[in-house]
Amino acid sequence: MSGFILRALTLPVLFFAPLAVLAGPVQSSHLSLPPDAASHRQVVVDIFTASYDVYRKYAWGQDEVAPISKKPLNPRNGWGASIVDGMSTMYIMGLEDLFNDAVNFAQGIDFSHSKTADTVSLFESTIRYVAGLLSAYELSGKKHPGLVTKAKQLADCLSLGWTNNNVIPYNDLDFKHNTFENTGTSIAAAGTLTLEWSRLSLYTGNNTYRKLAEDAVLRIANNNAHVIAAGLPGQGLDPKTGAPTDAYVTWGGGSDSYFEYLIKYARLSNTDDNTYADKWRLAVESSIKTLLKTSTVGDHVYLADYDDDRKIRHVSSHLACFHAGNWMLGGRLLNNETIVNIGLRLNDGCWNTYSSTATGIGPDGFAFASADGDYTGEQPPTTAQRAFYNKNGFYITNGYYIQRPEVLESNFYAWRVTGDTKYIDRAASAVRSFQAYLRADGGYAGVEDVDSKQPSKNDETQSFWFAEVLKYLFLTFDDPGHISLDDYVFNTEAHPFLAPPAKSKYGS
Ligand SMILES: *[C@@H]1O[C@H](CO)[C@@H](O)[C@H](O)[C@H]1NC(C)=O
Ligand SMILES: *[C@@H]1O[C@H](CO)[C@@H](O)[C@H](O)[C@H]1NC(C)=O
Repeated sequence: MSGFILRALTLPVLFFAPLAVLAGPVQSSHLSLPPDAASHRQVVVDIFTASYDVYRKYAWGQDEVAPISKKPLNPRNGWGASIVDGMSTMYIMGLEDLFNDAVNFAQGIDFSHSKTADTVSLFESTIRYVAGLLSAYELSGKKHPGLVTKAKQLADCLSLGWTNNNVIPYNDLDFKHNTFENTGTSIAAAGTLTLEWSRLSLYTGNNTYRKLAEDAVLRIANNNAHVIAAGLPGQGLDPKTGAPTDAYVTWGGGSDSYFEYLIKYARLSNTDDNTYADKWRLAVESSIKTLLKTSTVGDHVYLADYDDDRKIRHVSSHLACFHAGNWMLGGRLLNNETIVNIGLRLNDGCWNTYSSTATGIGPDGFAFASADGDYTGEQPPTTAQRAFYNKNGFYITNGYYIQRPEVLESNFYAWRVTGDTKYIDRAASAVRSFQAYLRADGGYAGVEDVDSKQPSKNDETQSFWFAEVLKYLFLTFDDPGHISLDDYVFNTEAHPFLAPPAKSKYGS
């Protein structure tokens, strides 16, 4: 805002131009860490090293999840997702020895064949491995070019997804037979490649990667068929034709990071193509008109889903809660405090799902009622759910917590964007809950029921525990100039990429 006034005063020519809305800084200029932040930060580092020790002991080299029970495991039967996914966090936390070991491990991975019988996901491999490798390469001063070589090896294999010159890639790839599963994909899977594949183009000098990722997003963004509200595409896609296969609209899983990357790619690339920022703005505008709901209890603000039958579903999820931070980021880049403030209210609604449960940890899925009804597409709430709703303004539909980051991710944005230390207190409270309820065999696992004082564990540690949860927590308690939101763009797995100085304006 002040940026615009200053410009208008010093450059009167702007009075004759259409009103320019200039990008503002993302981070608050009043960020001052409370004295107890250093001890919270150390606790988070200790949780990281404890979790990683257990991973080393029982699951070294495994993919995606690490069983932490004491059964001996066949070592290295995967690509080591927690190692590669955890690398950028190790660097940021200053865990030099762990980082160097991880870099050595990563440079030895053979990405040309899968070590398991499963197909390889283009989306998951991109956000965890390609991003993990390239972010670690950047953060460590480009001293390990072998990380780029590995990202390229993997991406060259993943380009199987475009075998038939299809614009929308197939997601489930079979490295053994050099083919893909002929199944539908989603806007999140096809629309969440731009940050990573454009970085790969930057460091290899081969623009094909960037072009493949951009064309897939543009195909989704420019498709106006079957759209319920402008800028809100349905979730399913047929890679063969590039056409939508349904009209289900959500900011939750399956669609989430398509929206997330529209504004993040505009920022990271500083592209002159306004499509990305404009479509993000349109998605937000349409969401405010059609999806934004206030609960009848507690006045909490949520983004509902819109289904194929054109009905509002009064549901939301842990995954969707990234929206709060994303609206704060995009609102600042578009210099629109209305969007920032809705982001802050969404963040409060998501935090309420943590602060209202027995463990102080939020559930995977939840539902609510607003003035227009309480339809969810599922069974109506039980008596117990109704009672919970009447007390808390939401009720739990899926009570597990599998170490997802989104609520604490948005809480991190809220702190950096406002400078209000209540967000530091919230993060500290989540850390205490994790210590109280997630500890298992010295490490940390997910739980089955966040509203139980003695929840059973699910015996798994997710790679995104290392990549996302512990990184966002650490940075919440760290010097706000470290990985500033004005200098870096986080991919959807919390791997930061260094951004060029911001443009004066995003979108048309
Ligand atoms: C660029 O990468 C693509 C995709 O892997 C590959 O097919 C192409 O040969 C590469 N181009 C050059 C000039 O190396
Ligand atoms: C800010 O965003 C809101 C919601 O999309 C929109 O209604 C409003 O016009 C925008 N304000 C400005 C100044 O662009």
